[in-house]
Amino acid sequence: MTYKSMKKKKIEIEFYQGSLKDLSAAEIDLVNKAKLVSNNAYAVYSGFMVGACVLLKNGEIFTGNNQENVAYPSGLCAERVAIFSAASQFPEIEISTIVITAHSSTLSIKEQISPCGSCRQVIAEYEVKQNSPIKIILHSYNEDKVLIFNSIINLLPFLFKNSSLKRH
Ligand code: THU
Repeated sequence: MTYKSMKKKKIEIEFYQGSLKDLSAAEIDLVNKAKLVSNNAYAVYSGFMVGACVLLKNGEIFTGNNQENVAYPSGLCAERVAIFSAASQFPEIEISTIVITAHSSTLSIKEQISPCGSCRQVIAEYEVKQNSPIKIILHSYNEDKVLIFNSIINLLPFLFKNSSLKRH
């Protein structure tokens, strides 16, 4: 459907595509920590083992993995386990980077994992709160390839912000 009387607009997203060797030593360390913690995921229902690693601007590092539940919606993704853990310990410290990786012995995971909508919304919350971008590194466990997004805005354009809730 085209709307002839309306102006057609487009937006661009930006990301970097490369491999593990393109990352800094500190970033590779975060990837390795995310890989390690993915082994502890409680993923008995999906078999999809996700690991996340969060670096705070004070150098503290938090990891998390997905925690599933027989009542499926009661489970939580790796990203939110890691971010909420970091934010609960250091509420005033900004988040610098989050690395996400996944592997499975039963599913074939061909590409980098891409965070679900709820995790994107949570990352957006902290980005808006701290008023500085969060780097998101998506890692493919089997091939050591990475996609890097310098802000959640590239994964969640037109995000819902708290400014929309400001009273007048
Ligand atoms: N999952 C994550 O932990 N992070 C994502 O970004 C996507 C999905 C988890 C949720 C569930 O335990 C399993 O992966 C399958 O969806």
